[in-house]
Amino acid sequence: MQRENFGNRFGVLVAMAGSAIGLGNLWRFPYMVGEYGGAAFIFVYIVFFFLLCLPILISEVIIGRKSQTNAFGAFGKLAPGSPWRWVGALMVLTPVIVVSYYSVIGGWSVEYFIKACMMDFSAGHASEAEFGNMFGEFITSVWTPIICHTAYLLLTALIVVAGVKSGIERFGKIMMPLLFVIVIVIAARSATLPGSREGLEWLFKPDFSKIDASVCAAALGQGFFSLSAGFGIMLTYASYISKKENIAASSAYTAVSDLIFAIIASCAIMPAVFAFGLDPEEGPGLVFETLPYIFSMMPLGGLIAVLFFMALIVAALTSSISLYEVGVAYLMEEKHMSRKKASVLIFVVAWALGILCSLSFGPLSGMKLFGNTLFNFFDKLSANWLMPLGALLIVIFVGWRMGRADVRDEFTNGGTLKANCRVFGVIYFLIRFVAPLAILVVFISNLVM
Ligand code: PHE
Repeated sequence: MQRENFGNRFGVLVAMAGSAIGLGNLWRFPYMVGEYGGAAFIFVYIVFFFLLCLPILISEVIIGRKSQTNAFGAFGKLAPGSPWRWVGALMVLTPVIVVSYYSVIGGWSVEYFIKACMMDFSAGHASEAEFGNMFGEFITSVWTPIICHTAYLLLTALIVVAGVKSGIERFGKIMMPLLFVIVIVIAARSATLPGSREGLEWLFKPDFSKIDASVCAAALGQGFFSLSAGFGIMLTYASYISKKENIAASSAYTAVSDLIFAIIASCAIMPAVFAFGLDPEEGPGLVFETLPYIFSMMPLGGLIAVLFFMALIVAALTSSISLYEVGVAYLMEEKHMSRKKASVLIFVVAWALGILCSLSFGPLSGMKLFGNTLFNFFDKLSANWLMPLGALLIVIFVGWRMGRADVRDEFTNGGTLKANCRVFGVIYFLIRFVAPLAILVVFISNLVM
């Protein structure tokens, strides 16, 4: 079977950046910054991001491009007959779990986008507590969240069915630039509100005394999540990158755009939170409870709300298509299914799991797995355990199993990319020693905390 490839460098970048930039940037990063002390968290985040997360991403990309196959097949191909193939299986399964609960939040964004269009967040509509109640009632209800989850997952499936080039790449090329424009517009609005200065200072003036072990662990975990590293995702996308591309450059551009986007997203949210005297440590409810209230209070807020929830949907979609594609690529290549059939199968599994996750906020909230509702269990299992575990196995594979010459060859396109040759030693050192150690520390801190 002829494998599809991305069309050109920009196509590769929008697909990879599209996967990286998602709810993690617009929803998770700002509330983590809020919870873990503002600028100090951002500082630690940036250091870890380049020192650890980027080498992990590069490792994953090396495996994908070298093997030119899906996440399961890749390990089998590069380490034939070894137990590494089970690592590949883990990397196919995890994204299927994640897409099911990611799609539930994607569904919430769809509902909030519709609410915004119906002017529910226009001037003086409700108090902060009422917005909180509105969100609470929505997620605990049965049907609306399930319908939204279904619609969202269907949208994801449709883009994936269209294929790598005409679905994933084309969608990204249109949507990613749009996404940046929208978030910059919102940030400009937010930063010019009276009283927003305090918020900007809080974001950019670090208080280093706030840095402790929990800040470090949270920053590293958020870095993995935000870069979509440690799953078979970037590996699968990298398998569609042509042998002529510079994968170090693509990875670095992806990381830089992901970081810039997260910071702009915080600039869009935090100054407004301060301008209205709200609590920056609100946590996961920030986007769905605090923000609607802010929109209802600010001039032009109704319009900004529509733009914001549209951005949330677009950002989430470009990530969920990457999650979805991992399973599809596996079924197509290992089980010889057509793209359509593979997409339907993944849809059914993710849809059913997603329904259970959605119900775990309401009728199924009493059903606990290790003390967590199903949604929280999936979230914790993937972000705190499977992702670091996947990341650890990936760096061990590239650093200790593949062999230096092969890794170097892939990283430098057979020695032809001079700049890559120059930085290779440093990157290889980070991959072999620094990244595995740091991931182990995160693991242990997750165990203890
Ligand atoms: N990186 C995506 C984000 O920031 C989320 C994601 C995580 C996507 C894991 C795929 C896998 O939202």
